[in-house]
Amino acid sequence: MISVRTLSKRHGDRKVLEGVSAEVTRGETIAIVGPSGGGKSTLLRCLNYLESFDEGSVEIAGFKLRPNMGRGDRQTLRELRTRVGMVFQAFNLFPHLSAIENITLAPRVVRGLSREVTIARAVELLKQVGLGDRARAFPHELSGGQQQRVAIARALAQEPDVLLFDEPTSALDPEMRDEVMRVIRDLAAKGMTMLVVTHEMQFAHDIASRVWVIDRGTIAEDGPPSQVVDNPQTAVAREFFGRLRRS
Ligand SMILES: Nc1ncnc2c1ncn2[C@@H]1O[C@H](COP(=O)(O)OP(=O)(O)OP(=O)(O)O)[C@@H](O)[C@H]1O
Ligand SMILES: [Mg+2]
Repeated sequence: MISVRTLSKRHGDRKVLEGVSAEVTRGETIAIVGPSGGGKSTLLRCLNYLESFDEGSVEIAGFKLRPNMGRGDRQTLRELRTRVGMVFQAFNLFPHLSAIENITLAPRVVRGLSREVTIARAVELLKQVGLGDRARAFPHELSGGQQQRVAIARALAQEPDVLLFDEPTSALDPEMRDEVMRVIRDLAAKGMTMLVVTHEMQFAHDIASRVWVIDRGTIAEDGPPSQVVDNPQTAVAREFFGRLRRS
């Protein structure tokens, strides 16, 4: 489903990603962890081309991404983002649209689906994320956890092949984290292919088929949670998890 080959990216003189290579098969859930500034968000953003990269290539959901794609690729990149959804730390809902309008907007505008079809699907998705009774609520009338679940439903409305999450629970109070993590866990159980940047180690341990420790622009360690979290092989991963346990 995803194949990353020797992906490199710089910001000015700073190397942010350095020759990252990785494969993800359909239905896997990858938890991405690692120290701040290591390149986790940048890698996710490169995968749906919110950021371009300097070297290497990415194949994802049937799209081939290469360095410096531009104007001529606009249509491709638009299609890419319907196949590869992204959920951010700050929910980024449209404040003037209700929950159901947030969810139906892109399917209507980007995919040209009818109002009836998109609304029926959005009602199902709201039920799926536990918000069947809040379709008409506006973002400011919803808790952070509820807003994030609407954001997940909005991403699902595009029927993506891959979902990318960048710290989906870190802007939330602890009580609200669980409800969002439960939704993501359900998606994992249903076989959605997902990459989830998270600082929640127990969550990573529970949902991930593999954990990547990203440090200084490379994947320092890649393996099942039972190995990477419980018995890390690299000094970077040992130090990272050690610090987490002490904090
Ligand atoms: N627009 C930018 N211009 C310059 N440097 C940038 C830019 N965006 C990111 N960086 C740098 O790239 C590196 C990787 O950033 P990134 O946001 O990917 O890290 P991260 O692993 O997601 O960190 P965190 O855990 O704090 O979210 C950092 O050193 C950051 O300062
Ligand atoms: Mg980040």
